[in-house]
Amino acid sequence: MKTYICEICGDAYVGNEKPKNCPFCGAREAFIKEGKDAKPIVTEKVELSEQSRKNLEETLVLETRANAIYLCMAEKAETYEIKAMYKRLAKVELEHALIATKFLGIRMSDIKQETCNEEDVENFKRTVELEENAMDLYGRFAKEATEREIRILFTALTQAEADHVELIKNYLQ
Ligand SMILES: [Fe+2]
Ligand SMILES: [Fe+2]
Repeated sequence: MKTYICEICGDAYVGNEKPKNCPFCGAREAFIKEGKDAKPIVTEKVELSEQSRKNLEETLVLETRANAIYLCMAEKAETYEIKAMYKRLAKVELEHALIATKFLGIRMSDIKQETCNEEDVENFKRTVELEENAMDLYGRFAKEATEREIRILFTALTQAEADHVELIKNYLQ
């Protein structure tokens, strides 16, 4: 067993092998390092530009909303698999929101409940829309970032949301 650390969310994964994606924030393998080599971006003190502050605030709103929507979808899910999958996605999005609060130096506030459809297939379609929208937005935020850590963050988030799209598209086939 070894300790691996995700350089995006800073969380540790203990196991025999490096996971393909961070189980907490979904960052890809390239961002996961052996404990002693890891330099998590969330532990850096970053002086934020006006633009990045605005973008992180938008990220926080979007991610907390996604968390509440996915919890609703988990609630309505027709099978245990779909319920468990949406609960996992909800936790991943919450982790993204938490990362944003760390850079912003603020506390997480209460999350407002959201509604969703009764049908899994409708929820899958909405999930793809939400995730594709997040991907586009984070791609832009990465380009707009002048700070190294924020650029890395939004690059990792773009990939994590792209992986979610792929996951859901498999259910839509
Ligand atoms: Fe992570
Ligand atoms: Fe996210």
